[in-house]
Amino acid sequence: MNIDSISDSYQFLKLNLDNRILTLSIDRPKKLNALDLTLLQELDDATSNIRQLKDFPLRGLIFTGSGEKAFIAGADIGQMSKMSPLEAEHFAVLGQKVSLLIEDLPFPVIAAVNGFALGGGCEMALSADFIFATRNAVFGQPEVKLGLIPGFGGTQRLAKVVGRNRAKEIIFSGRNLKVEEALEIGLVLKIFEDKESMMNESRATLELMSKNSPLAIAKAKKVMNRGNDLTISNGLELESEQFSQLFASQDMKEGTGAFLEKRQAQFSGK
Ligand code: CAA
Repeated sequence: MNIDSISDSYQFLKLNLDNRILTLSIDRPKKLNALDLTLLQELDDATSNIRQLKDFPLRGLIFTGSGEKAFIAGADIGQMSKMSPLEAEHFAVLGQKVSLLIEDLPFPVIAAVNGFALGGGCEMALSADFIFATRNAVFGQPEVKLGLIPGFGGTQRLAKVVGRNRAKEIIFSGRNLKVEEALEIGLVLKIFEDKESMMNESRATLELMSKNSPLAIAKAKKVMNRGNDLTISNGLELESEQFSQLFASQDMKEGTGAFLEKRQAQFSGK
């Protein structure tokens, strides 16, 4: 599958592949990258396609927004204002599906947040492994101001990342969080002065990770994501199961062999 041909088929997404690291940009800057149904369908299609690039496995994804003002300013309010409850249910389920597809990608995903990450935007960022953000980034779940609640996973993921009571305060108030506060509560991992330095550092972070076994990273991610929903004993069981499976892999033989032979490991991801 060719990334350029996939990219050309989307109205609101830009894809750029460089050295096995994919940058996926939401490209609807006039509406601050707000997520309408078409955009969500495109994201569904793109994230499903990205997952299937088995012959050319990716080593990381940078998920960002076009323009300087917004990562994603939320779900499209104009479109939502006309939805029936049934249409709204389909809309939320689609947004949640996309968030799960991003969360489950078998390689590291960085949400590179420039400007507003509100409502569905904050929720999409939460489906990444790490959130990097520029000094002008603003986070929040303002849905209650619209007579709504978060619908793309915010009631669940925000609580897991920042703690339930802090998440309640953010969701019940609907207030905006400046990037410094988002860093303090563990929502954001790193702050950058501008978009260019954030994008460079996102790439450098993924390149550093891509020197390690992609198979081991995929398994670590799977165990940690699934473990989030399990009891400690079930989580430990999953860990030992996945740990032991790696002993049948080429990557494990290569990694341990390279250590013992005092050379750099060359991982195949198999
Ligand atoms: N939906 C639809 N359009 C949006 C939008 C959204 N979420 N956010 C911004 N836009 C549009 C504006 O309507 C405007 O369009 P026009 O030029 O055609 O009027 C354009 O983007 C630029 O926006 P502003 O002029 O408002 O820009 P600003 O700098 O003055 O304000 C802002 C920026 C504070 C982010 C403001 O746009 C805003 O408050 N946006 C809405 C944020 C929000 O409430 N998000 C949550 C949505 S609900 C949700 O996401 C539910 C869910 O969980 C699934």
